[in-house]
Amino acid sequence: MQGFALPADFLWGGAVAAHQVEGAYLTDGKGLCTADVLTAGDKHTPRRVTPGVCAGCYYPTHDAIDFYHRYAQDLALLAQLGLKCFRTSINWARIFPTGEEQTPNEAGLRFYDALFDTLLQYGIEPVVTLSHFEIPYHLVEAYGGWTDRRLIPLFVRYCETVFARYKGKVRYWLTFNEINNQLDFDWPMMAYANSGISPEPAASFRQRVYTAAHNELVASALAVAAGKRIDPGNKIGCMLAYSPAYPRSCRPDDVLAAQAFEAHNLYMADVQCRGAYPAEVRRLWSREGVSVGETPEDAAALRAGTVDYIGFSYYMSKAVSARGVRSNPYLEKSDWGWPVDPKGLRYALGTLYRTYQKPLFVVENGFGAADTVEADGSIHDPYRVAYLREHILQMEKAIVLDGVPVLGYLVWGCIDCVSFGTGEMEKRYGFVHVDRDNRGAGTLRRCKKDSFAWYRRVIASKGEAL
Ligand code: BG6
Repeated sequence: MQGFALPADFLWGGAVAAHQVEGAYLTDGKGLCTADVLTAGDKHTPRRVTPGVCAGCYYPTHDAIDFYHRYAQDLALLAQLGLKCFRTSINWARIFPTGEEQTPNEAGLRFYDALFDTLLQYGIEPVVTLSHFEIPYHLVEAYGGWTDRRLIPLFVRYCETVFARYKGKVRYWLTFNEINNQLDFDWPMMAYANSGISPEPAASFRQRVYTAAHNELVASALAVAAGKRIDPGNKIGCMLAYSPAYPRSCRPDDVLAAQAFEAHNLYMADVQCRGAYPAEVRRLWSREGVSVGETPEDAAALRAGTVDYIGFSYYMSKAVSARGVRSNPYLEKSDWGWPVDPKGLRYALGTLYRTYQKPLFVVENGFGAADTVEADGSIHDPYRVAYLREHILQMEKAIVLDGVPVLGYLVWGCIDCVSFGTGEMEKRYGFVHVDRDNRGAGTLRRCKKDSFAWYRRVIASKGEAL
C-alpha cells in the first residue's frame, strides 16, 4: 500500500514497559512493586491483586521475558528494524526499593545506564516513562498508594535522581502512563494500576481515585519543572489513554452523553496541558461531594508544570450513548473484544490537536493477537500488518493532509511481552516472538515474525511503503 513519506526526523519506534519485560523482580536490590502482586488472568478471568506475594499464585512479571538479562541481544535484534526510538519505563522500585530511601540503589541506576547506552550506540533515542503502572509496593502498604500526598515528594526525589543521572542520554520523558485510566470506574484494576488503590470500601472509591489523580497531577507538574531545571533540553510529556468517544447515534441525548464522557476522560489532560482544572470537573466533584484537598501551592505547581507534548496510546474508539458505552456496529473486534478503528486514530489526532495545540506523540498503538509458530519456526502475522498499516496510513493523513504535528509513532510491545490487561503472554503484539506461554513455560527463544520485515520497510521508506 502507498503511504505518505514523513520527515526524516519522525520518530518511528517501539514501546514496552519495565515490569512487562524485565523480570528479575527482586534482582540487584529491586524492591517489590505493585505489578509484582498481580496474578495472571485471561480473556475471561480478571487478574487479582494479592496481599504481597502468595505461595501458589502465578505472577507473570516476576520473570516476564527476562529482558533484564537479555536486553543487549534484544536491542541488537530490534535495532535491525531501523528504529529511531525505543520507549520503556524505569521501575521506581529498582531505584528506590521501598520509595522511602534517602539514597538510590546504584545497581538499579547502572542497569538503566547500560540499557540507554546500548540504545544510543545503535542511534536509537530512548523515550522514558517515569511511572508505568507500578509504584514500590511498600508505598501501598504504608500510605495507601497515591491517595496520600506524601507520595508527591517521594516521587519527585525519584524523578530528580533519574533526570540527573541520565542527563545527556535521555531527552524524551513521559510522566505517568495512561494517567486517566483510573477514571474508568467500571474497571477498578486500573485504579490499582495507576495509583495502588483498592476498590474497597466502595463508598469512598471515587473520592480516593480523584484524590490520587490530583496528587499525581501535582507530582507530574513538579516532575516537569524539575526535569526542565536539571536539563532545559528535556522534552517532557503527559501520557493519556485516548479512545475518542463517538456519540452512539445523533440522538441529542447520546451526543451530550458522549461530550460529557469525553470531558471527563480528558480533564487530566486539561490540567497537564493548561495548568488548571476545567470547570466541569469541579462542578462534578461538588455534586458528588468530592474534595481532593487542592492547596494554593498545588495550583501554582500545576500552572508551572505544563507539558511540552501529549503522548497518548490509541487502540480503539468508543461509542457512547445516554445509557453508557455501547458496541459500535460499524467496527470489527479483535479476539480480545477490542474494536478496530484505524480512522479513529486520525480523528483522535485531529481532536487532541484542535483542543490543546501541543505536539502529539503516538506512544502506543498495536494489535494483540495469538500467533502460530509453524513447524519451520516461521510466524505469519498478516493480521498484525493489516492493523498497523491501516493505522499508520490514517496517522499519515492526519499529518500530511490535516496538518497535525506528530513527533513519532511507537508500536506497543514491539517484542512480545506480558499483557497488562490480562497478564497473558499469548496476547502478543510483537515483531519478535518470545517462546513463553501463559503459565511461564517456554525457552524464551526470540524469533522474527513476518511483520518484522514489513515494519523495517516502512521505517526505511519513511512511512511511504505500507
Ligand atoms: C496500554 C498500556 O494500556 O495498553 C500497556 O500502557 C498495555 O501497559 C497495552 O500492555 C496493551 O494492553 P494489554 O492489556 O493488551 O496488554
